[in-house]
Amino acid sequence: MKIIKTIDYDHMSEAAAALICDVISEKPDAVLGLATGSTPMGLYKKLIEWNEEGTVDFEKVRTVNLDEYVGLSKDNSNSYYHVMHEFLFDHININYDNTHLPDGMNPNPEEECERYKNLIESLGGVDVQLLGVGHNGHIGFNEPSDSFDSEVHLEDLSLETLNANKRFFESIDDVPKRAFTMGIQTIMRAKKIILVASGEDKAKIMEEIIEGPVTPKVPASILKTHPDCTIIADSDALKLIKNL
Ligand code: F6R
Repeated sequence: MKIIKTIDYDHMSEAAAALICDVISEKPDAVLGLATGSTPMGLYKKLIEWNEEGTVDFEKVRTVNLDEYVGLSKDNSNSYYHVMHEFLFDHININYDNTHLPDGMNPNPEEECERYKNLIESLGGVDVQLLGVGHNGHIGFNEPSDSFDSEVHLEDLSLETLNANKRFFESIDDVPKRAFTMGIQTIMRAKKIILVASGEDKAKIMEEIIEGPVTPKVPASILKTHPDCTIIADSDALKLIKNL
């Protein structure tokens, strides 16, 4: 696992956006695995800027998002469909038909998980998967558990995650309790993985991920076993890691 330490959030965003652009320039129809949450927003801003300048072209790019809340429709401003459009898709030259997320409104969860898994396979798999990380080490919405075996599935969100995400909602009661998410195995099949992290509040979990054992109690710890994973994090998030 490669670790890139940047001085701040802006430099983290720029470095991560540059790696994604490298993948697109090598393969113009690359499949990008995308994430939501706060951390990737700066890098999406960079991608928009570089697309406007003509440095990166999304015309043929395909995307699959990691996850989506159950029960939020596309026009709900907290649905990840809406967030992706608001902060990236509506500002770049991407073909909307090439952008994919789980359908949080599908009343048949098993069918939805199967559909999304098959869709990712039919695109030829993910070329580069972008990840943020939860304070409990979750990636996608894969909460701490006893196994790394999951594929696309419906996850019950932990109290910690509900608390972390309530900042986007009026109250914790409004945060959906379940989400569709790519599983750990789905994520690990990506050819390349980039995990971004920023801020002191992520320092403890980054220490566990980088220096602790590989355990499903810290889902992101499995990234150490991936052949091409890069962590890009700012100095606050990496402040407990000594030898960098
Ligand atoms: C979002 C996702 C989550 C977030 C994580 C960190 O699609 O899969 O794993 O990446 O909760 O969120 P932020 O970046 O808001 O700290």
